[in-house]
Amino acid sequence: MKILIINGPNLNLLGTREPEIYGTLTMETYLEQLRARFAEVEIDLYQSNSEGAIIDKLHSARGAYAGVVLNAGAYTHYSIAIADAIRAVSPLPVVEVHISNVAAREEFRRRSVIAPACRGSIVGFGMMSYDLAVEALTKEAAL
Ligand code: DQA
Repeated sequence: MKILIINGPNLNLLGTREPEIYGTLTMETYLEQLRARFAEVEIDLYQSNSEGAIIDKLHSARGAYAGVVLNAGAYTHYSIAIADAIRAVSPLPVVEVHISNVAAREEFRRRSVIAPACRGSIVGFGMMSYDLAVEALTKEAAL
């Protein structure tokens, strides 16, 4: 089974970016742990700071992956184009992920325009949010 993680803007700076909110682990180090935990799953990572590149990646994921874990960063809150792309690749399941508890932060972070297009959302568990999303996708695929 193949799963694609897509990380949006500024998530390439995990480890040094606002560590009090996002922690000190880099995505590369975290990914090693994730791959060890889900040894039977092939996990690819794609990161882009550009909306169009994220949309292109979503388009190419259909047929190539069993599911996508998407942290769209700030695009979460206003990108109708990414929400449309998620719907456009249906039935590919896309799980929305956030490291921080966006519901407990600024008002503008409480709205996700992509959530209604996603299979589900996992929010606020730190980097473990990605674990939980991969687990959800693998368990559903096994049903
Ligand atoms: C984030 C939350 C977003 O509001 C923010 O813009 C990010 C990271 C998170 O993982 O907590 O870039 O998606």
